[in-house]
Amino acid sequence: MDKTDALLKLEDEIRNCRKCELYKSRVKPLCHGGNPDAKVMIIGEAPGYHEDLCGRPFVGKAGKVLDKLLDSVGLSRDNTFITSIVKCRPPSNKDPTGEQIRACKPFLERQMQIVRPRVIVPLGRFAGMFVFRKYNLEWKRISEVHGRVYSVESLVGSVRIVPLYHPSVALYNPDMMNVLLDDFGAVGRCMKAIDS
Ligand code: URA
Repeated sequence: MDKTDALLKLEDEIRNCRKCELYKSRVKPLCHGGNPDAKVMIIGEAPGYHEDLCGRPFVGKAGKVLDKLLDSVGLSRDNTFITSIVKCRPPSNKDPTGEQIRACKPFLERQMQIVRPRVIVPLGRFAGMFVFRKYNLEWKRISEVHGRVYSVESLVGSVRIVPLYHPSVALYNPDMMNVLLDDFGAVGRCMKAIDS
């Protein structure tokens, strides 16, 4: 099965998932956006109000911040794969619970197996904790790990992980835009390194 078919099958499973209560209140699940052949996988937290309506990632204000970050290193949604830890919107944009994350985890695991990214960019603490646990890295606070590059060996080869603050921080604190831009530079450097 090629990547597109495998992702379509997965989308179907996500749409029919009843493993936690979030399916009851959501409009559309957020499966993924971007390019399945991308080398970079961006992992957000969960769909918000706008993403829930259309089932696509980062279409609200945080998405505009993400677009600026991608653009700053010459990336775009055409050459990144974007998804989230939890596929259905938690009501009132609450933090996802441990139970919701556990229920949704197999979907993200499968997306990682299908896409096989070389660079993984978890946005925010929930995505960061998930990726660190998966690759047996010791999680510290996001304030300690953001913008650093963690290289790990996986069954599909070496992977670089660049944990970042969630782009929505720049909406509440505009000074954080510079931190995000600075940190995103590490993603650009990883891309150059794997292309060379
Ligand atoms: N926050 C996320 O983590 N993902 C989205 O798609 C939107 C907001």
